[in-house]
Amino acid sequence: MLSFSLAAFGALAGCGSDSGGLGTCPPDSSAQQAAGLKVIANSCTVCHNPNYAMGTPAGGLDFTSADEVKAEAAEMYAEAEEGAMPPTGKLSEADLEALRVHLACTQ
Ligand code: HEC
Repeated sequence: MLSFSLAAFGALAGCGSDSGGLGTCPPDSSAQQAAGLKVIANSCTVCHNPNYAMGTPAGGLDFTSADEVKAEAAEMYAEAEEGAMPPTGKLSEADLEALRVHLACTQ
C-alpha cells in the first residue's frame, strides 16, 4: 500500500525535468534558458533581493539565489503565469515562456 501511494504520488507530481506544472526542458534551449534568467534579473530581483526592505527580500523570497529560484520554481511560474507577478503587469508571452524554460531546465 505504501509503495503504491508513493508510486501514485510520483506519477502525479512528475519526475525529473517534467515537474510542478513547469513542463519539460526543451533540448537545445540554452538561448531561451539564458533569456529566462534575464527575465528574472530584469523583472523579479528588483524586489526579490536581500536589500529590498531593510535586509528582507519581497515576500521573503530572494531570487538572486539560484538555490532559491530552484526551490521556488513552480511557484514562481504559477505566479507569473496568472499575472500576479510581477505586480506591475503580466510578462509578455515570450518572456513567460523563457522563464518557464529556464525554470524547467534548472529542476
Ligand atoms: C514590484 C516588486 C515585485 C516584483 C517586480 C516581483 N515581485 Fe514577487 N512579490 C512581491 C511582494 C511584495 C510579494 C509578497 C506579497 C505578495 O504576495 O503580494 C511577492 C511575492 C511573490 C511570491 C510568493 C507568493 C505570494 O503570493 O506571496 C512569488 C512566488 C513571487 N513573488 C514571484 C515573483 C516573480 C517570479 C517575479 C518576476 C516575474 C516577481 N515576483 C516580481 C514583489 C514583487
